[in-house]
Amino acid sequence: MNFQITAKKIQDLKTDALVVFLPQDQTNTQEKSLDKWCGGEISHLRETGDFTGEGGKTRVLFQSKTRPRLVLVGLGKISTLSLETLREAGSLAVQTLKNLPVKRAAAMLPKIPRCRVRDTAQALCEAMMLGAYEFTHYKTAKKDKQEIDTVEILVEKNEQREVSTGAEDATILGRAVVAARDLGNHPANIATPAHLAQHAQDLSRKFPNKVLRIKILNRPEIERENMGALLAVSRGSDEEPKFIILEYYGKPARRRGGKSGPVIALVGKGITFDSGGINLKPSEKMEEMKYDMAGAATVLETIRAAAELKLPLNLVGLIPATENLPSGKATKPGDIIRSRSGKTIEIVNTDAEGRLVLADALDFAKQYQPKLVIDFATLTGSIMVALGDDIIGAFATGEKYLQALESAARATGEKIWPMPFDKDYEPFIKSDFADLRNQASFRYGDAIHAANFLKNFVDYPWIHLDIAGTAWATRDKPYRPKGATGSGLRLVIEFLKRFSK
Ligand code: BES
Ligand code: ZN
Ligand code: ZN
Repeated sequence: MNFQITAKKIQDLKTDALVVFLPQDQTNTQEKSLDKWCGGEISHLRETGDFTGEGGKTRVLFQSKTRPRLVLVGLGKISTLSLETLREAGSLAVQTLKNLPVKRAAAMLPKIPRCRVRDTAQALCEAMMLGAYEFTHYKTAKKDKQEIDTVEILVEKNEQREVSTGAEDATILGRAVVAARDLGNHPANIATPAHLAQHAQDLSRKFPNKVLRIKILNRPEIERENMGALLAVSRGSDEEPKFIILEYYGKPARRRGGKSGPVIALVGKGITFDSGGINLKPSEKMEEMKYDMAGAATVLETIRAAAELKLPLNLVGLIPATENLPSGKATKPGDIIRSRSGKTIEIVNTDAEGRLVLADALDFAKQYQPKLVIDFATLTGSIMVALGDDIIGAFATGEKYLQALESAARATGEKIWPMPFDKDYEPFIKSDFADLRNQASFRYGDAIHAANFLKNFVDYPWIHLDIAGTAWATRDKPYRPKGATGSGLRLVIEFLKRFSK
């Protein structure tokens, strides 16, 4: 989907459909001139109650000789209007367009109180791209729905520049989220650890001058790195594990001593299929465990987006990628392994594999002396019990970073909720036979036990995002259709944008 920003008059538009976002309790000057243009049709609908501007409601006026189709989309009450209600409306608009024979559409950019037009434009364009998303890769029958190639955004002359930057950023972010969703939706027989590594390779090749640098550690190098926890998880699988390192240098402060500037590391859980291992999961919904690499997808595509946005900072993406399967060689409950850090771990439950692979990746991150590390992981069912499927659990070691992330969450609509590390819970992850156990000896509060466990491998400011609930939609949500959602990507880019200022 391409966006063209224009200050044309509506009379001069050549388009298949014009989308107009209208609030419930106010007719503004934009609406009045539009109403005049279409001979009072809109005010008539308002009078009859056929269209009220209520949120979640649309009305299509089919084209006449003098005008294109009009798609009226309700924004709800002015008092509740926000970028998020606009995203919901934008997503609804594009769903409505998809059911019409429309290739080229236009949309009038509405005014959102207290929001810059740049942000309004970005929110609308992102929502249209993400609302149009469908994963049809493996469908052989031709689609009956129309693809929308171009959307003209109608703005006032003096807004054109700002709106263009908003739309450009939205295009970069929209594409990155779509690619992250695709990785999550591809089945585990395709999206293997090697596939993730290849994806990272392809990304790095797209940029000139080694802006993105890639290094893939294969089994021998992983062994040389003493990543015993990652190796323990991969033992049951015939797919080779990969440790992916994708670096973005956007702030080369290499004048002094040939060193690069400060680094932020992003770590993504890359379990391309989580069967549970010897502690096999129940069959129901096991097929969904192909998305246990959603954290990895978010990290790879975040780095691509950061590079395309030319953010002035340095990022290192670290991805431990493997399957978690049972076999005659698989790690067994009670096995004790030595992690890269040297700490020994009793693997009490082979299904708590995420914290194992992350332990080695978080330890590996130490060598960059990072200013901050953020990990993205579909880590625990427990976070879903606590926060449901729409809120990310955020565990942070520094207040400062958490506050910045909270404001990025408000700006993007990707909700987070602060979760505690708790000292009193630490005894639950001590093992009788090793330094740590990967499943706590107390059943409840596992998202916290997992975070406490990971804390043992960290010596830098750190945010752990448990995206187990948010990375997969089991119901259609506004601009997040069923399946992989690309959770955390827009959130962390917004955070990094603020961070790099
Ligand atoms: N990948 C799962 C967590 C998960 C569950 C993600 C449901 C998305 C949806 C993780 O590896 C896991 O299996 N965790 C166990 C840990 C337990 C054995 C201590 C869990 O949450 O049940
Ligand atoms: Zn598991
Ligand atoms: Zn898992």
